[in-house]
Amino acid sequence: MSRVVPLSKDQKMSAIRCHHIIKRYGETQVVHEFDLDVADNEFVVFLGPSGCGKSTILRMLAGLEDISGGDLHIAGRRVNDLPPQERGIAMVFQNYALYPHMTVRDNIAFGLKRLKVPKAEIDSRIKEVSDTLGLERYLQRKPAELSGGQQQRVAIARAMIKTPKVFLFDEPLSNLDAKLRNHMRIEIAKLHQALKTTTVYVTHDQHEAMTLADRIVLLRDGRIEQVGSPREIFERPRSAFVAGFIGTPPMNLLDMWVEPPADGHVVLRGPFGTVHVDPRRFALDGRARVTLGIRPAHLQVDTNEGRDGGFSGEVQLIEYLGNEVLVSFGQSGGEDGGEISALMPSAQSPRMHDLVRFVADPQQVHLFDIDTGASLLHAGTPFH
Ligand SMILES: Nc1ncnc2c1ncn2[C@@H]1O[C@H](COP(=O)(O)OP(=O)(O)OP(=O)(O)O)[C@@H](O)[C@H]1O
Ligand SMILES: [Mg+2]
Repeated sequence: MSRVVPLSKDQKMSAIRCHHIIKRYGETQVVHEFDLDVADNEFVVFLGPSGCGKSTILRMLAGLEDISGGDLHIAGRRVNDLPPQERGIAMVFQNYALYPHMTVRDNIAFGLKRLKVPKAEIDSRIKEVSDTLGLERYLQRKPAELSGGQQQRVAIARAMIKTPKVFLFDEPLSNLDAKLRNHMRIEIAKLHQALKTTTVYVTHDQHEAMTLADRIVLLRDGRIEQVGSPREIFERPRSAFVAGFIGTPPMNLLDMWVEPPADGHVVLRGPFGTVHVDPRRFALDGRARVTLGIRPAHLQVDTNEGRDGGFSGEVQLIEYLGNEVLVSFGQSGGEDGGEISALMPSAQSPRMHDLVRFVADPQQVHLFDIDTGASLLHAGTPFH
């Protein structure tokens, strides 16, 4: 990507405002009062499990799906009833559907030709876009003569050439193999740094979300579960659902009993042992049970003979990850069964069936309401 396609002036105004947006299919409501402001130039990622409504919301932004209720504004204008081509957006899909009988050049130019843009202007825009995306060498080829990543770049070029106010991407990389996906993810990040076009990007790949997003919108069953920077969402998940969804390997979530406070700390007791928590960090409010969340990286081998509590069990599985191993331990046939995982340097790996004991870093403990899953962390509580 060598050159930057300049933005025209009116593109600078491209904020998106979603106010109480609803989607119903017949009797079934699949999107509930969706509220979101996407700032000009922002890169927002919709993340969430399959069926949570990501594509539906994106398609409503694009105008490919009717909005059942609420207001959608793009660049300060209410666009609920505006057809897609008048919204100033360009969308890139997972199956990029290039025209197989046309050259790359004609594929890219197609939308502009339809709009009767003069040939000289089409030529100069094709040059800019293909320079930016490194496609100059492929303009005369047919899509079948390109790799998957090159085809995806053509699809992006086709969207870019319209110099949209807003880019919408729906899982654009999920058809590519892992290596190419990584490569294209970096290209999309660079493209956004260069063009700064307001972007909404749908994925269910949390790695993509964490690395691309200014802000992540985490969706569940057609509702926003949390909106925040990748770091906020990772460090301060608002619910057990978010905590379990973000982070690899996933956070351990364990239901624990709360013992009465003693010596300024509270002991939580569960099937694998205990953890000490600072009651000032959490709204415990006399609860008898809570859900504890602790990431595998925040469990350390106990060197203090259980004085700070700890979790123990027999090693059930060791997953070698290179520098680290993920050790899953538990009580086979124990009362709750189940396992808990800890990440540790490979050099210190235990062996299968060893008895191991880990303590939780008290600064990294999360607690959630056992019924609603809401975080009990007090606002403003520092981490680290
Ligand atoms: N045309 C339709 N009629 C009825 N229900 C639909 C229709 N399209 C989507 N849905 C439902 O709306 C919900 C949201 O679907 P959507 O495609 O937005 O999910 P998604 O988050 O994009 O999932 P995925 O990650 O699998 O692409 C799903 O429960 C789906 O079954
Ligand atoms: Mg989808």
